[in-house]
Amino acid sequence: CRIVVLISGSGTNLQALIDELADKTTSGQIVAAISNRPGVGGLERAARAGIATAVVNHQDFSDRDSFDAALIACIDSYQPDLVVLAGFMRILTPAFVTHFHGRLLNIHPSLLPKHKGLHTHQRALEAGDSEHGTTVHFVTAELDGGPVVIQASIPVLSEDTVASLAARVQQQEHLIYPLAMNWFIQGRLRLVDNQACLDGKPI
Ligand code: GRF
Repeated sequence: CRIVVLISGSGTNLQALIDELADKTTSGQIVAAISNRPGVGGLERAARAGIATAVVNHQDFSDRDSFDAALIACIDSYQPDLVVLAGFMRILTPAFVTHFHGRLLNIHPSLLPKHKGLHTHQRALEAGDSEHGTTVHFVTAELDGGPVVIQASIPVLSEDTVASLAARVQQQEHLIYPLAMNWFIQGRLRLVDNQACLDGKPI
């Protein structure tokens, strides 16, 4: 299973995926890490692991359609079976999402369908949520709205800040994203009629 990971930043989730596949007998292989921003930490992490890197800088494109077309071409050049968004901070066009239908995963730092979009930790605090967390989902045309694969939740503590919540949510992300990736590699996780299925059963 050839995997391309898209990043925009520090790449701690990418690192968790790299570590998961290291020294293991698995048919999964990260064949490239692609960033829309040059010089980010995630690119260094990939290079250190001997993974090919590429940058498709959104600032070089006048509109979203031409950026996405260039990104699709770059991804396709690595012939992936799975494309993993790991802190990739660009909204993707329907053409992009359709192109990778059924082989595009994202991780979002909230318990979807709660808190789609940005600033999720702050919004969980402001809403007085008693629990918060993170969600791995298949990407479909609706932003942060695709079929859920797995969620992890944490309690919100009275002393929590955005930073403390973000840190605990990220710890959970580093556990559930490798798990979901492995399910896909093993052929156990599939998108069937817009429904995520594990071992043939709807999740
Ligand atoms: C993660 O919390 C992810 O849920 C969000 O952005 C963060 C990426 O962090 N979309 P990293 O680049 O993997 O460290």
